[in-house]
Amino acid sequence: MAYPVKTAVFPVAGLGTRFLPATKAMPKEMLTVVDKPLIQYAVEEAKEAGIEHFIFITGRNKNMIEDHFDRQYELMNILKEKNKLAQISILENDLPSAGQTSFTRQQQPLGLGHAVWCARHLIAKEPFALLLPDMMVKSKVGALKQMIEQYNGSGGNVVGLYEVPHEEVDQYGVVKTDVRPDGTIKIIDMVEKPKISEAPSNLMIMGRYILQPEIMMLLETQNIGAGGEIQLTDAMLKLLEFQNFSGVNITGELFDCGSKLGFLTANLSYALDHPEVGEAFRKAAKKLIS
Ligand code: G1P
Repeated sequence: MAYPVKTAVFPVAGLGTRFLPATKAMPKEMLTVVDKPLIQYAVEEAKEAGIEHFIFITGRNKNMIEDHFDRQYELMNILKEKNKLAQISILENDLPSAGQTSFTRQQQPLGLGHAVWCARHLIAKEPFALLLPDMMVKSKVGALKQMIEQYNGSGGNVVGLYEVPHEEVDQYGVVKTDVRPDGTIKIIDMVEKPKISEAPSNLMIMGRYILQPEIMMLLETQNIGAGGEIQLTDAMLKLLEFQNFSGVNITGELFDCGSKLGFLTANLSYALDHPEVGEAFRKAAKKLIS
């Protein structure tokens, strides 16, 4: 039985320049899809997969994220006075328990690999999940839970995969895969932001990982890679040489909320399905489009 994954890391230090001016003072991870911030979707996905410790790699101007996962006494008291039970239960359900959150800062924007390495003292030499909150998956079973099912069988490292149009591969980490006799996917190569003509496939790493703690040792000495940043993919490629690496084709609809188009599409999709406003929104949207 593989060692259980109870810790998740959320890199949330990014500047969010693609969403200025919205992100001038507000963290991009607090942008909402309908009525919930992006970071909350990611935390809920992790909870569903059995995660009990939530580590946030924050940066300057990100205090709002820490506050979001804390108790808001004033608001709670007002809601209690007004007997707003539905709202109280929303706030109560969202709250991680005492001691379940940890925060550390990435002091310089040196890349995803560097952000993950900033959590090295918090992960206690155990396997951990990594979720990039920009990437949202709308599915019956959350993306991380889909991967935990694979991990429980194979152990080692697992990355979530998603097929993208070939002309988009240069925006992502891309993998080369093989199929094991039992039908599971083995990763045999990966490259960060390849040239379109050199990409080994159109299967991209979609922002969900289960990693063994040895990745930290590799990140420690990882050279600068694509885009002048310390890339997680480059360190994972080294880990691949001595540890098992599996891929899981994630089922569901993927929204890259790091781009305006992906973010707006996610809002449209979640709004159409929203129990409270979905039906009315569908009518309003139809009217706008016709
Ligand atoms: C990061 C990873 C990349 C992955 C992508 C998914 O890139 O480095 O491998 O495919 O997230 O969103 P970034 O979006 O930080 O450039």
